[in-house]
Amino acid sequence: MHADMKVTKPFILRCFLVSLFLSLPFLFLYLFFPKQPHNPITTKDLRIRPGYSSYEAYIQRQLNKTLNPRLRKIWTTRDWDRKIPVFSRFFEDLKDKKLLHNNSKALCIGARVGQEVEALRRIGVADSVGMDLVPYPPLVVKGDFHNQPFRKDTFDFEFSNVFDHALYPQRFVAEVERTLKPDGVCVLHVALSRRADKYSANDLFSVQPLVELFRNSALVHVRSVDGFGLDTEVAFRKKGEPPRRSL
Ligand SMILES: *[C@@H]1O[C@H](CO)[C@@H](O)[C@H](O)[C@H]1NC(C)=O
Ligand SMILES: *[C@@H]1O[C@H](CO)[C@@H](O)[C@H](O)[C@H]1NC(C)=O
Repeated sequence: MHADMKVTKPFILRCFLVSLFLSLPFLFLYLFFPKQPHNPITTKDLRIRPGYSSYEAYIQRQLNKTLNPRLRKIWTTRDWDRKIPVFSRFFEDLKDKKLLHNNSKALCIGARVGQEVEALRRIGVADSVGMDLVPYPPLVVKGDFHNQPFRKDTFDFEFSNVFDHALYPQRFVAEVERTLKPDGVCVLHVALSRRADKYSANDLFSVQPLVELFRNSALVHVRSVDGFGLDTEVAFRKKGEPPRRSL
């Protein structure tokens, strides 16, 4: 009995120490991972920028840029004439590639004052609208790209050059895939080789995270563009049978 006790005590102690040691990595994971419950998809090639204490703080910062009177003046004057022809050329090109048609119902996400919407309308895509946190009638309606104010299967075509502003990239993409019709096309302009602006909420280092996020779509093409600081165009087509047209 006495001898048994002598053996058992250190044995139990050793078991305890070993299990404590083995559980340390899990304790470590527990302590460090739940700290970012909102941004579970930060990966090597897609990093959410730190510093947003809440969704409200994030929206406030985005609004700050969108409502900046000096910027709005520039967007509606000098930039208006400078950017619309460039957007028009991008969209004409997508028409040539059969990714966009005059009868496409089109949405521009994060369109601010709607230069890209105006470009779409000028090249003949009449049923086009923009969406942003601040509306700019008649081209841009109010809406948050994390929670689009549209029904599922609404659009044939969605364009955005503000993916880097998404605090929740998976929500951004899920909303695109929800509101696109089956066989609908999404075209994103993103910055891969240089960092976008100080209002960005994420940084993208390759196309791979996008391919993973667009789970219900197929990659159509990746190509270089010169899009106002954004260098890469990525096009996806949502899977599924296109809706039958009654002609
Ligand atoms: C909002 O913008 C103004 C300039 O328009 C700037 O002075 C201020 O620091 C900004 N605030 C935040 C929270 O970014
Ligand atoms: C599309 O609309 C533009 C502008 O109205 C027009 O010039 C063009 O011919 C149209 N294309 C087709 C295929 O109908």
